[in-house]
Amino acid sequence: MSETFLTPTIKPEDDDIERSLRPRNLGEFVGQERIKEPLAISLQAAQGREEALDHVLLVGPPGLGKTSLAFIVREELGVGIRCIAGPALERKGDMAAILTSLEPRDVLFIDEIHRLNHAVEEILYPALEDFRLDIIVGQGPAARTLTLDLPHFTLVGATTRTGLLTTPLRDRFGMTFRLDYYCVDDLATIVRRSAHILGVEIEPEAATEIAARSRGTPRIANRILRRVRDVAEVRHQGAVTMAIAREALKLLEVDEVGLEHTDRELLRAIVERFDGGPVGLSTLAVALGEEPDTIEDVYEPYLLQLGFIQRTNRGRIVTKSGLAHLGAPAPPDDVSLF
Ligand SMILES: Nc1ncnc2c1ncn2[C@@H]1O[C@H](COP(=O)(O)OP(=O)(O)OP(=O)(O)O)[C@@H](O)[C@H]1O
Ligand SMILES: [Mg+2]
Repeated sequence: MSETFLTPTIKPEDDDIERSLRPRNLGEFVGQERIKEPLAISLQAAQGREEALDHVLLVGPPGLGKTSLAFIVREELGVGIRCIAGPALERKGDMAAILTSLEPRDVLFIDEIHRLNHAVEEILYPALEDFRLDIIVGQGPAARTLTLDLPHFTLVGATTRTGLLTTPLRDRFGMTFRLDYYCVDDLATIVRRSAHILGVEIEPEAATEIAARSRGTPRIANRILRRVRDVAEVRHQGAVTMAIAREALKLLEVDEVGLEHTDRELLRAIVERFDGGPVGLSTLAVALGEEPDTIEDVYEPYLLQLGFIQRTNRGRIVTKSGLAHLGAPAPPDDVSLF
């Protein structure tokens, strides 16, 4: 079993199960009350007026429920959905073809919307604002702009960080929702719900233990649950107890605060190879053999949230609590390490 099992990047073999665990409507979507309430109101208002919902931007680290929410919007509106991955659209024509195929009030879901190429993104501007598609026909002095009317549709965009979006694109969203890491109670509810769907019997304390070690992330909670289920089936009688949950978490090398091998490697690299920092993102990425984007999107947010690392304008540093977690002696209070 490797630590990459749990990191929140998409693995094809887990896709089917992940889909089956996905909440289908707002009622099934656990937590994120700050988002659900205004979204429910806007959905109801749009339904009442029989209009398309305003464009929605969903922002947050991987595995917190952005794709689930996009599908929930479509489900609640009872309309069709088209899904595309930002980087997959290469030509303006691809975007034009998708836009012209939409039915009124449909949802267009663009994942990783910050990775749209510039020309494709520009086609979107008038489409989002005026539901208009401008097509240039011909070349040179004979070139003309043809304007096509599009049905009123809803763009749901997902991104890990708003800072990656261009201002004109960001400004065209009527609503922006930031997903936060989930609290342990909400994650425990998600674990119990998933266990029920998977037909696994689980003690409430075991669900809470898994929740507490899932880095605030439903996808990780579900992944841990599935590995815990394996251990329960292979080594025990099936039902998941606290002892079994702990045994599985140990096998997975998930520690008390939910860090995996790679998270600890990152901390250790800063401490051991760069004297605790500051170290620049790209240098750190090379040292770890990871992409800078993966470090920023997948590993850092939770380490920052725990207060184990800090970003300074000269680079990343490991904090005293980060050091303490690694078991390295914390520096005395009167001596500044950095
Ligand atoms: N609020 C929630 N309630 C219940 N389950 C959830 C919730 N949010 C996410 N999940 C579970 O976590 C899984 C991952 O969620 P989802 O794919 O929507 O995340 P994402 O934000 O789109 O991630 P990525 O950035 O990697 O695309 C879902 O399959 C679902 O099972
Ligand atoms: Mg997604």
